[in-house]
Amino acid sequence: LKNLVVAIDGPAGAGKSTVAQLAAKQLGYTYIDTGAMYRAVAWKTLQQGQEVTDELILEVVKNIDVNLQYADGKTKVTVDGTDVSAAIRTPEVSGIVSQVAALGPVRVKMVDLQRKMAERGGVLMDGRDIATNVLPNADVKIFLTASIEERAQRRWKELQQKGYDMTLEKLQQDIAARDKADSEREISPLVQAEDATLLDTTGLSIDEVVARILSMCQ
Ligand code: C5P
Repeated sequence: LKNLVVAIDGPAGAGKSTVAQLAAKQLGYTYIDTGAMYRAVAWKTLQQGQEVTDELILEVVKNIDVNLQYADGKTKVTVDGTDVSAAIRTPEVSGIVSQVAALGPVRVKMVDLQRKMAERGGVLMDGRDIATNVLPNADVKIFLTASIEERAQRRWKELQQKGYDMTLEKLQQDIAARDKADSEREISPLVQAEDATLLDTTGLSIDEVVARILSMCQ
């Protein structure tokens, strides 16, 4: 099997991580969840117990040690040695992560790590700017999306299972706000790369999406 570099980008809740993990497993590749890295910085910022300002975020990112480990089909994220894999998935973190990810020094540090992780190939990396900025020479580029209603519905089910009580309407607003912020920021905004294949997953099952991704990786 070839050791391809696969880039998957798309808006929030499109199911990128779910299908990317399954496809990575099938291919025997490493899955790299770049959103988790920005979430890790956001989590540490919230831990400071202060008002979240750009200054505070920049202070936090200076000394943060973010580490991603992918083993047994699971991503483990640590911040300064502490396992934050579950803690970075809260609505509170989601609420500030776009502010964190818009800052140049944050992106420089994370993108540097991401490129190092992809060096040897055999990786499937998902995020917002993978095809356009992090890995412009990726062998396969996919832009994964779905209708806002379906994305909100999927995330809502996920949060419900974790015990969060949030209305579908509020969640849809949050997702739309995050997409807007991610698409309109100055540095590496969320946009489909010219040479990426659009994959709209509205109405498709997880297995169908995985099968399409695998067919693109041959
Ligand atoms: O993928 P996920 O929803 O976990 O990403 C969380 C946030 O991290 C995004 O809303 C975006 O602000 C940021 N992000 C980014 N660039 C990436 C991946 C994520 O700016 N490559």
